[in-house]
Amino acid sequence: MNKYEKFFAANKASWNKRTVIHKDSAFYDLDSFKKGKSSLNKIELEALGNVQGKRLLHLQCHFGMDTLSWAREGAIVTGVDLSDKAIKLAREINADLQLKAEFICSNVYDLADGNNYAIANLNKTSFDIVFTSYGTIGWLPDLDKWAEIISLYLKPGGTFYIVDFHPALWMMDNDFKFIKYDYFNTAVIEEETVGTYTDREAPIKSIEYGWNHPC
Ligand SMILES: C[S@@+](CC[C@H](N)C(=O)[O-])C[C@H]1O[C@@H](n2cnc3c(N)ncnc32)[C@H](O)[C@@H]1O
Repeated sequence: MNKYEKFFAANKASWNKRTVIHKDSAFYDLDSFKKGKSSLNKIELEALGNVQGKRLLHLQCHFGMDTLSWAREGAIVTGVDLSDKAIKLAREINADLQLKAEFICSNVYDLADGNNYAIANLNKTSFDIVFTSYGTIGWLPDLDKWAEIISLYLKPGGTFYIVDFHPALWMMDNDFKFIKYDYFNTAVIEEETVGTYTDREAPIKSIEYGWNHPC
């Protein structure tokens, strides 16, 4: 994945900036979460059902609220994300809440076979569930490689669960006002973003790179 390194580095820097804003946002409402409110939606809760005692790998976990919500549901969870600021915050929340989640700062693609991930608990074919949600594949250039990684970590017969927005959404410009990009993955999308989805006025600016994946 070397040819994408420049894009991943820019995205990491951007998600680091977003994390600082997100942690205090009404959108994420971390205070209520810390008091016990789940960040999970009915759709994923009903789809996965009883996760008690199941090992769950959460890809692109951001700062871990969903991962930790699954832990509160009884799953044994590991969250992975590219942003070191997000993972640092996830670990702090985990410690604060005395939960037992593990968080790994990594590009999803660095979990590929052969990269020799010497991380306890991230054993191959050891997860009952691989989970990813809301704002995921648009950051990933190669879905075949991504799918290989998912199957590498799932137990035989395990469940892969994704819940996300329809890819038509990502044809829109950053303010979601007009159609700007191709529906198909014809080229990397470079976008200058100002603010973030939790606060359009936030004093951050980034260049981000994404890929559209049609249904
Ligand atoms: C929109 S968020 C995921 C949403 C999550 N459900 C939430 O709201 O908390 C996207 C996440 O993907 C992560 N990400 C982007 N590219 C990645 C990559 N190549 N590998 C791992 N994580 C990545 C970002 O750092 C960010 O935390």
